[in-house]
Amino acid sequence: MEDLSLHILDVAENSITAGASRIEIRITEDTGANLLTLEISDNGKGMDKELLDNACDPFYTTRTTRRVGLGIPLLAQSARESNGDIVVESTPGKGTSVKASFQHDHIDRKPLGNIGETMSILIMSNPDIDFFYEHKKNGRIYALDTADIKKELDGVPIQSPEVIRIIKDDISTWIIEANNMIE
Ligand SMILES: Nc1ncnc2c1ncn2[C@@H]1O[C@H](COP(=O)(O)OP(=O)(O)OP(=O)(O)O)[C@@H](O)[C@H]1O
Ligand SMILES: [Mg+2]
Repeated sequence: MEDLSLHILDVAENSITAGASRIEIRITEDTGANLLTLEISDNGKGMDKELLDNACDPFYTTRTTRRVGLGIPLLAQSARESNGDIVVESTPGKGTSVKASFQHDHIDRKPLGNIGETMSILIMSNPDIDFFYEHKKNGRIYALDTADIKKELDGVPIQSPEVIRIIKDDISTWIIEANNMIE
């Protein structure tokens, strides 16, 4: 996986498969503490203890088409390569949360990548799922909740190209601005 946005896409795919109606994605960058955290949580069907214990094992999957599941193990590997780690918590019938941490300035820490693109793909492909996206960087906060946006849209579909473009540009613009702030 080249960047963190692709990990987000991959892990959110698990939430979609798990039947989630709401997926929350949080990125927190604290350059003072030299820490980047990524959290993807959902209200999907969750995992029992056996499945949870095995979720970080690349040779375990409930897929029938392919023997190995790699979404979570690959994120775990990326985190560990940059002196971080992963914590997966899940409650059957309630949902799942995947939290990965990274040393912000680690030479092997993957870049964020195109988060605007990732979020717009998720929203466009899953218009019935509510997505909450939050990005904090050194005290500045950006947040977007498609549940709120849908109410404002007054019947215009969230997946319409104009709406998707605005969402994508809004996320990307904030990231550029946040990166230009003096750290
Ligand atoms: N958010 C989630 N909710 C419920 N079950 C999950 C969730 N995330 C992972 N799982 C379970 O853990 C297993 C492993 O997930 P992982 O993403 O590593 O592999 P996969 O989805 O099976 O395959 P791949 O991601 O390589 O296509 C999944 O098959 C699924 O049973
Ligand atoms: Mg997966």
